[in-house]
Amino acid sequence: MAKIGQDIAYAAQLIAGGSLVAMPTETVYGLAASAVNTEAVARIFEVKKRPSFDPLIVHLAHRDWLDEFVLNIPREANLLAAAFWPGPLTLLLKKKPNISDLVTSGLPDVAVRVPAHPMAQALLQTLDVPLAAPSANPFGYVSPTTAQHVNDQLGDHIPYILDGGPCAVGLESTIVGFEDGRPVVYRKGGLAVEDIENIIGPVGVRDHSTSTPKSPGMLSRHYSPATQVLYGNIEENLLKLNDDTRVGILSFNRMMPQLNKERQFVLSAKGDMKEAAARLFAGLRHLDALNLSHILCEPVPDAGLGAAINDRLRRSAAQSTIEN
Ligand code: TXA
Ligand code: MG
Repeated sequence: MAKIGQDIAYAAQLIAGGSLVAMPTETVYGLAASAVNTEAVARIFEVKKRPSFDPLIVHLAHRDWLDEFVLNIPREANLLAAAFWPGPLTLLLKKKPNISDLVTSGLPDVAVRVPAHPMAQALLQTLDVPLAAPSANPFGYVSPTTAQHVNDQLGDHIPYILDGGPCAVGLESTIVGFEDGRPVVYRKGGLAVEDIENIIGPVGVRDHSTSTPKSPGMLSRHYSPATQVLYGNIEENLLKLNDDTRVGILSFNRMMPQLNKERQFVLSAKGDMKEAAARLFAGLRHLDALNLSHILCEPVPDAGLGAAINDRLRRSAAQSTIEN
């Protein structure tokens, strides 16, 4: 298992020496390496068992670092960076040659973001180099929102996990790119599309499933626990199952009185969308650990962060059918 602690200097020393360190961000925990050390970046793919066609996000301490690594920043990108950095926004921008093709999987754009978590900030400022960091989970599984989540799955492969407590946002960053200069959302996430549109006007959304995704977060099955997830009306799905003795429920704001309390996880009893987002991945992981036959979940109201929550629930359930 990895060591867990809050020692920024030690984490920086490990990364400077070419190791990987898990770090908290406000969205989810990241598996960080120096973005300018190609061997360390290659280790990220190995540890995550991530296909090499799936590029990494580069984390910067400040907007001012951007010009060293990207070209031709569109006006809207500057407006969004000014409004939402540091925070849960990732921009896809034309890369300069100093960003390795390994980081971008050979694509012409690099994904960049400035994280808000004080520990991620302290680490970046101590190192004074950008950090490549995907979510710190095995490829395809639910993202981690606590240091313990990271240790459970990757603890045997990394020396150190910086513990910054549970992630405040709990959903991965929202990814915005540009097609012929027009802004497009490729992954809904911790920054609501409505908030983006308040700054730059209407944006396209291209986060639907495709077999050749621009962003593998777009793969139809992703963010999945091992247990089969059924997404839809909970009562209807319960009726379809022959046996509900090993069924878990992930609901937005209600308990089902007829079912065992231990197997139910309520995202936010008061119906608060921010709280629901922050608890989503912990809920999926909690239920996944109970050795259940199914996890039943229902769409939350689809506005704001709710749209990103529904996206993750839908993908975690992709390819699941009821076998009866
Ligand atoms: O909130 C977050 O974004 C977290 C924290 C750690 O920063 N990171 C994260 O990274 O979620 P990851 O690797 O799990 O997801 C990044 C997504 C992937 O779907 C990847 O394909 C896409 O961003 N992406 C990265 N670089 C890209 C590029 N150059 N072009 C298109 N998509 C890209
Ligand atoms: Mg990920």
